[in-house]
Amino acid sequence: MFSKKTIHFIIYHSHSYYPVNEEITQEIASTAHPNNIDKGFTGMLLATENSFIQYIEGEGLEELESLFEKIKNDTRHEISFFYKGVSDFRVFSKWSMGAWYMQPDELDGLEGFNSLKLCLNNNLHEETSAQTFLELMESILSIWSLKNKK
Ligand SMILES: Cc1cc2nc3c(=O)[nH]c(=O)nc-3n(C[C@H](O)[C@H](O)[C@H](O)COP(=O)(O)O)c2cc1C
Repeated sequence: MFSKKTIHFIIYHSHSYYPVNEEITQEIASTAHPNNIDKGFTGMLLATENSFIQYIEGEGLEELESLFEKIKNDTRHEISFFYKGVSDFRVFSKWSMGAWYMQPDELDGLEGFNSLKLCLNNNLHEETSAQTFLELMESILSIWSLKNKK
């Protein structure tokens, strides 16, 4: 018999206090990368001019919550929405923290982003927003996989 592992995840949206660019995104990722490998976290950080969207997943709930506390207290941004959930699989199993900077118009064109914006702007039920977040993440995952295919 094999037992399924419980994967805890956190997704959030935040407003950046400073204009974000590719360099800042990679700088955050280079701090996140070794920490996340060490703790067994995987995920994706999506950045644009003035906001971040991040999905972090792992087996240890306490460790995940303590990382999220750190991220929440990071003075570079302010979290506007977050959702904690469980899953029985990892969405980003191959990335300790994939990081992607996108121009606002690129992000606007991404499937699922406009529905997410609508949810966030209208304070929709958190489960609805979380579901929209996941759909956006899935669309990012498929584009990202295509982009990185050798
Ligand atoms: C948008 C954003 C996302 C971040 N994501 C992570 C992450 O996934 N993992 C991580 O270790 N640090 C992440 N950080 C950095 C943490 O906030 C913190 O600076 C880092 O963990 C170093 O903390 P320490 O010096 O207490 O170890 C992120 C920061 C920002 C602004």
